[in-house]
Amino acid sequence: MKDKSKSSEFSRRKFIKGVGTGLAATYAYSPGFAKITKKIEKETKDFIEGKLQLMLTVNNSLVKLMIRPETTLVELLRDHLELTGTKIGCNHGECGSCTVLVNSKAVYSCHILALDVAGKDVVTVEGLMKGEELHPIQKTFIEHDGLQCGYCTPGQIMAAQALLLKNPNPDKDEVIEGMSGNICRCAAYPNIIKSVVAAAENK
Ligand code: FES
Repeated sequence: MKDKSKSSEFSRRKFIKGVGTGLAATYAYSPGFAKITKKIEKETKDFIEGKLQLMLTVNNSLVKLMIRPETTLVELLRDHLELTGTKIGCNHGECGSCTVLVNSKAVYSCHILALDVAGKDVVTVEGLMKGEELHPIQKTFIEHDGLQCGYCTPGQIMAAQALLLKNPNPDKDEVIEGMSGNICRCAAYPNIIKSVVAAAENK
């Protein structure tokens, strides 16, 4: 005679196993599970690569990301935030092409670690415009032809902005001195100085 209890036990086990496998499969392929897995994978990778968390403000937006400790500010801006208006010239703190504002002061972004500006306020040339409208300094650089090849221009404009924030009415000599950390390989200096003086007068 057939043992009914054995047969029903067998089908119950089979049923539970089937349901369990189905649920596991459903969970494994659910968007929530995929998201958690991705997060864990990213955190593990960041940990292995020695990345650290950085939080700062860039052009009025709060930025929070994981970066390697040796990342410079210019690398953060260009490679991580795609703000490529800031240029790299010498990459040694000598030419000024990479100038940005940190808490309203001009700094060479190639010469400072991104982690050193944690919690600070960074402004790049992209942050000067108001919507579609150019900043007054950008306008005077165009009006007075304060550039030739244009490569150093974002750095020149940011240096000018730092100067005018500190001294809104500089005379020509003060402009020359204030802009002395920014090299122009085309030597467009006379028009750069005119542009900054005009920006100060237009204020
Ligand atoms: Fe930073 Fe030259 S690129 S000072």
